[in-house]
Amino acid sequence: MPDGRTPQPTRLEMSGWQNEEDAAMKKAIFVLALIMGVALVAGPVMAQTAPTSVVLKGNPMGGVKFDHAKHQKLVGDKCDTCHHASKPEKAMKAKQEKCQTCHEKTATAPMKTNAKAAFHDAMAKKGICIDCHVKEVAAGKKAPTKCTECHTVKG
Ligand code: HEC
Ligand code: HEC
Ligand code: HEC
Ligand code: HEC
Repeated sequence: MPDGRTPQPTRLEMSGWQNEEDAAMKKAIFVLALIMGVALVAGPVMAQTAPTSVVLKGNPMGGVKFDHAKHQKLVGDKCDTCHHASKPEKAMKAKQEKCQTCHEKTATAPMKTNAKAAFHDAMAKKGICIDCHVKEVAAGKKAPTKCTECHTVKG
């Protein structure tokens, strides 16, 4: 370089640059806020909330009052104790969904597991609910294993 100096911007030019940067930054913040706003509105629709307690219905013997909050505490973060991963025959729309959305009273192909089989086998000796209850009872705790201890809610 002939005089060994790089040209310095004038104050005017500098403030010009800053204003451009400011404008770009403001635009970026606005776009970000817009995205976050949309996420806030859409959030509750996409992420389901876990019920505190539900009555699982279908059996004419009676519905099953299921304390979701209590059971959730029992498994900690192992939600997949009950909520299995998505399967190809009928894919999940969310990480956790109501079982009976897919497991209907009568399973229609390609589904083969009906509502009953989703919860327990024909004699209610095995299944996600019963397996754990049997273990709990063996350990001296009280958890329902008989038909009439679970199917209690009339109407
Ligand atoms: C002991 C079994 C069990 C465990 C463990 C469990 N859930 Fe559930 N959950 C269920 C059942 C059964 C239903 C269906 C309730 C219904 O049909 O209304 C359900 C429903 C839900 C729903 C509502 C879905 C909807 O579309 O309405 C959410 C969300 C959920 N569970 C989240 C969780 C999370 C998160 C965990 C772990 C921290 C968890 N669950 C652990 C059995 C369980
Ligand atoms: C989005 C649909 C969907 C939801 C919701 C769903 N399942 Fe399933 N489930 C399936 C599919 C698909 C299969 C595999 C095909 C079949 O067995 O019918 C399956 C299979 C099963 C089986 C058979 C054994 C196995 O793992 O292959 C059990 C038991 C079961 N589900 C229990 C449950 C329970 C309990 C819930 C609720 C906590 C639940 N499912 C929620 C779709 C679903
Ligand atoms: C990880 C082990 C485990 C699993 C899985 C499980 N339970 Fe339980 N359940 C228990 C225990 C432990 C108790 C006793 C809790 C108490 O007395 O405080 C219980 C109690 C109950 C009761 C008695 C009323 C109450 O809330 O105390 C019902 C009804 C019940 N469970 C239904 C179910 C159903 C339906 C499923 C399957 C969707 C299920 N449970 C899965 C451990 C489990
Ligand atoms: C640990 C609790 C538990 C026990 C014990 C239990 N069930 Fe169930 N059972 C359920 C749940 C939860 C469902 C799903 C809700 C429904 O379909 O009624 C179910 C579903 C059923 C269904 C299917 C109803 C339908 O929707 O088509 C039948 C039939 C049934 N049970 C019979 C029995 C019989 C008979 C026994 C005793 C030999 C028994 N159950 C013991 C929890 C239990």
